[in-house]
Amino acid sequence: MRGRYKKWAEPFLKEHNDIVLQEWSLEDPYFQTDHLALEVGSGKGDFILGMAKKNPDTHFLAMERDVSVCGILAKKVVESNLENIRVIHGDIDALFESFEGFSFSVIYLNFSDPWPKKRHEKRRLTTKERLNHFGKLLTQGGYLKIKTDNDILYEFTLEQSPLEELTMIVNEKNYLFDETEDAMSEYEKNFRSLGKEIHRIIYQKRK
Ligand SMILES: C[S@@+](CC[C@H](N)C(=O)[O-])C[C@H]1O[C@@H](n2cnc3c(N)ncnc32)[C@H](O)[C@@H]1O
Repeated sequence: MRGRYKKWAEPFLKEHNDIVLQEWSLEDPYFQTDHLALEVGSGKGDFILGMAKKNPDTHFLAMERDVSVCGILAKKVVESNLENIRVIHGDIDALFESFEGFSFSVIYLNFSDPWPKKRHEKRRLTTKERLNHFGKLLTQGGYLKIKTDNDILYEFTLEQSPLEELTMIVNEKNYLFDETEDAMSEYEKNFRSLGKEIHRIIYQKRK
């Protein structure tokens, strides 16, 4: 997701450091909960805002690497007055280590950049190495939930096995959307309005 550069975004992110975290540690009471959820590549935030409204007892963390997109996301979070979302402006590859010791009950990857060219496949967020990293960040029995419209990313993800700690428990080529448990991101809304099939994979961390 890339749009026009927004000059206001960086100062906005710095100004709202109660919501947009510059650093994080397990000592922060926000992270002292059994219901902690991470979304990587949150885009403009519709998914995480939808989920946070439906699950007031879960503490959500939205990560987005594009500064302008992250600005839009953070602005929506601030304006929502929801108290169960924090935002990180950053790239998961640079941040995996900073989450050592954290235990998320669920991690979401929604419509991650597909990097369709073979020569770019190492950039996909669902390489075996990254899936194993996500597995380490999950609590025992926790879930990694992936949605995409992209056939190449979907097939590629299915090929990444065996995984160290994750077992695939759901593989739906045509996921029909579960209104009670799920929320739609900007991309999901767009793709569904175009009649595209949405694929969903869910892994569970082995107990
Ligand atoms: C295709 S968009 C989808 C946005 C949103 N999840 C949705 O479904 O509408 C992917 C987003 O992931 C972000 N992203 C890609 N790689 C990332 C990474 N390594 N760490 C954090 N964010 C990333 C991009 O900047 C982009 O905003």
